[in-house]
Amino acid sequence: MARIPDAFIDDILARSDIVEIIGARVPLKRQGKEYSARCPFHDERSPSFTVSPTKQFYHCFGCGAHGTAISFLMNYDRLEFLDAVDELAKRLGVEVPRDTQQRNANPDTNDLYSAVEAAAKFFRKQLDASPKAQAYLDGRDVSAAIREQFAIGYAPDGFNALRDALGTDPRRMSLLERAGLFSKNERGHVYDKFRDRVMFPIFDRRGRVIAFGGRVLDKDDGPKYLNSPETSLFHKGRELYGLWQVRQAHNKIERLIVVEGYMDVVALFQHGVDTAVATLGTATTPDHAELLFRNAPDVYFCFDGDRAGRGAAWKAVESVLPRMKDGRQAFFLFLPEGEDPDSLVRTEGRDGFDARLRDATPLSQFFFDSLGTDVNLSTLEGKGRLAERAKPFLAQIPDGAFGDLMQQRLTELTGVGARTSAPDTHVPAQRARTAPASSAPKRSLVRAAIELLLHRPSLALSLQQPYRFTTLRQAGVELLAEIVALIVSRPDITTGALIEHFADREESKALQKLAANTFIGDEQGLERSFLATMYQLELQAVEQRNAELAGKLRELGPSGLDEYERAEIGQLLGDARSLRALINTHTAPL
Ligand code: UTP
Ligand code: MN
Repeated sequence: MARIPDAFIDDILARSDIVEIIGARVPLKRQGKEYSARCPFHDERSPSFTVSPTKQFYHCFGCGAHGTAISFLMNYDRLEFLDAVDELAKRLGVEVPRDTQQRNANPDTNDLYSAVEAAAKFFRKQLDASPKAQAYLDGRDVSAAIREQFAIGYAPDGFNALRDALGTDPRRMSLLERAGLFSKNERGHVYDKFRDRVMFPIFDRRGRVIAFGGRVLDKDDGPKYLNSPETSLFHKGRELYGLWQVRQAHNKIERLIVVEGYMDVVALFQHGVDTAVATLGTATTPDHAELLFRNAPDVYFCFDGDRAGRGAAWKAVESVLPRMKDGRQAFFLFLPEGEDPDSLVRTEGRDGFDARLRDATPLSQFFFDSLGTDVNLSTLEGKGRLAERAKPFLAQIPDGAFGDLMQQRLTELTGVGARTSAPDTHVPAQRARTAPASSAPKRSLVRAAIELLLHRPSLALSLQQPYRFTTLRQAGVELLAEIVALIVSRPDITTGALIEHFADREESKALQKLAANTFIGDEQGLERSFLATMYQLELQAVEQRNAELAGKLRELGPSGLDEYERAEIGQLLGDARSLRALINTHTAPL
């Protein structure tokens, strides 16, 4: 996948004003250096959402939502990353570097969208002209409003209806072909792919038609549904049918209901359950799971109650577990035999369907039930087996209350704990043991340095290489070194972008917290504190090395040190002296 260069992202983030961008969507109140509001990402009475113009990032103390202008647009306007970048670039009047653009790379991508759009229009017109297709939709009780809302159409019978109407020149022919609207026989003859079918256009997240599903009118006319093939606009594992309509109908989506079929979505909408989406004839992919949770905190998966349905549900579990951050919930609704959401909502209405959703199986229960089906929990062996099976899955759940509770549940069921709480991975145990007492973890200094860098990344640029602090054996030093290196390689990086860089890492939460702290004091004060902190770390590094050499001397006698090491001791003493002086000048009152 083509990437937009980090430098470009840094640049547009540095030039955009997050206060302006968020302020245009959420009423912000100035409070000292920062702005505050009621958090747009969770319900609250008193404002715990803050936007910092200096750090160019937002943070909610209530729900933990945080990020840059880009992530705000992604979460609030529900844009994809590239689209959010696009949006900011457009505001600034700059081009996203051409060769790195993914979707818009091809100069005629826009023409491709237009071609699909034109086909959608054509199909709709054909529906108006086809009593047969209308009768089919009448027979399935699809209302006029729903036909409109979902832009349902009809692809006429015959092999050349679309081709004759729209494939008027070679260029248009080629566009329609690339959009997946034609088939080709062995002799290379091109004809309409969708024939005599009710057409369901699939919209992307910006409301553009990118593909179609077509249903036969008569049972025996080939496969019941034909879907557009994968094209440069359409990747079925990343799209959800109906999501566009759900988003049009709601500012804030409380829950999404995932069903299997086009008709299920349409029928649910028609009966007032207007947060339904469908996967497109595929299992729930990780991309789907991400997309679902980016749009709603609660996701309900509907599956057939049979074995195939349970298998499909387990696939969804696998996609969902790594995304179960705190505040997210997943449920499974298994349907009675012979029913689908379409038939259920027609017979039971919205209330009946809602009642079923209320009774849906929580992810936790489905998870342990599924893993425990053939396990006898009254035996040690059975408990052991369940624990073994659960372990790799539980390990995928992000840190947080949900993961802890799942762990607790496993312990209740088996008496075995699966997730050993992660030891401090920055300090390999062995190293920590051999570290001299004088440099026992003084985490607070490292933490202070990281905090200051998060606050004002450019501080790192004042450090001189080689960085001596990196030799320190202390928790957090590796992270500090990584942050410094990142800033040096991306000197314009903002706090928000820094945080974003670590979004997928276990340190992410801690970094967000540090970044959210406020500092009192001026620029000069900040720089002095930072340098003082770094000099202290350097001093510790010097002392650590000194203690190491002293230990060797004690153990092996004078001959234990070679001439370089003896020279080093002298050097270290000098370094320590000058560092102490520097620390004094940087901590003394001005
Ligand atoms: P179903 O066979 O359950 O059909 O397929 P349905 O949704 O109930 O459709 P109706 O009510 O008979 O019209 C569920 C989904 O699986 C995909 C489609 O996305 C369909 O909506 N599918 C099904 C295909 O892609 N091809 C097929 O031939 C059948
Ligand atoms: Mn059906």
